[in-house]
Amino acid sequence: MPGQIVNILAIESSCDDTSVALVRGDLAQDLPELVAWSIQSQNDVHEKFGGVVPELASRAHLLNILPCLRKVLTEARMKIEDVDAFAATSEPGLVPCLLIGHTTGKTLSLIHEKPLISCHHIHSHLLSVFLNQKPSFPFLAAVISGGHSSLYRVESFDEFKELGVTLDDAMGEAFDKGAKIMGFKKFPGGPEIDRAAQSGDPNSYRFGKVKTDGLNMSFSGLKSELQRTVKREEGAVRINDLAASYQSALTRHLFEKIEKALSQEGLKKLAIVGGVARNSEIRKKLEDLKTCGALEEWFAPAMDFCTDNAAMVGVLAFRHYKSKNFAALDSDVRSTSRPKR
Ligand code: KG4
Ligand code: ZN
Repeated sequence: MPGQIVNILAIESSCDDTSVALVRGDLAQDLPELVAWSIQSQNDVHEKFGGVVPELASRAHLLNILPCLRKVLTEARMKIEDVDAFAATSEPGLVPCLLIGHTTGKTLSLIHEKPLISCHHIHSHLLSVFLNQKPSFPFLAAVISGGHSSLYRVESFDEFKELGVTLDDAMGEAFDKGAKIMGFKKFPGGPEIDRAAQSGDPNSYRFGKVKTDGLNMSFSGLKSELQRTVKREEGAVRINDLAASYQSALTRHLFEKIEKALSQEGLKKLAIVGGVARNSEIRKKLEDLKTCGALEEWFAPAMDFCTDNAAMVGVLAFRHYKSKNFAALDSDVRSTSRPKR
């Protein structure tokens, strides 16, 4: 039996992508459908710095957010008055960036007298797989992005248990900083390493094995090793071989923890989410795990929904709407720091 239909406008601005989406769902159902979405990347703003500059990112969000919102409403053929709730990412992320999206959501909520929904960025990533697939619960999820790397047991649409987290750099950060060390000019550098590695030998340069407790991860030591290798080679570095070897070392560490988590949790299904989920070697290794029987199935969002986007925020916001988990107008945003070693 159909229930009440709700339209939710979702905003994402936790890092360097400004994105707005409109999702529509029947409250009697588990998930909403994506009606329209738009994104404005800031890669050209940050490229010359080789990393995201928070103040510049915040200013770019300020310029991009309302044009993105207008685009979505036009594409959805809707008026802002037709929206039933306004959702925005509130944590974790860069505070000056979160403030732009969250304050926009709050303002719209106040003016239109509709509920405000605050969304956790990592939980949005975890639900991003449901935009194009329907994994059955429970499953393991690896969040591998530019700002976060963690492993979760996903019990249901609303229950996520963190099993391990990076103790230093996120995996995407290690890709991006590594690309800068190797001299790749484009930002972000992860796709550049992926591309160069396709014609390189992953066994050409040696990297040590990373040791961390339990299911926690660490990627910054590999980045330091890379730095030492580039210095030692004094301009004679074989770039494709080094890219392949570095990518393989980062991936080896991730997979050691994925395999450990699968066996510890007795799971055979895995979702990879976040920008690094686009990586071709990771996808190949997942196929290998399937072939050897360690994995029954693996899931990933469509390429556009691996990196930050508001569509995934819309999915989480719909779940919050279903349980009337609304935020107050004086609610805050949070950066959330990493655990201490
Ligand atoms: O999910 P996302 O937008 O970041 C955060 O939420 O923090 O992902 C961006 C990250 C960047 O670090 C980028 O280099 C990485 O995803 N990335 C890749 C690839 N495509 C994007 N890393 C490795 N291989 C790729 N093909
Ligand atoms: Zn993200």
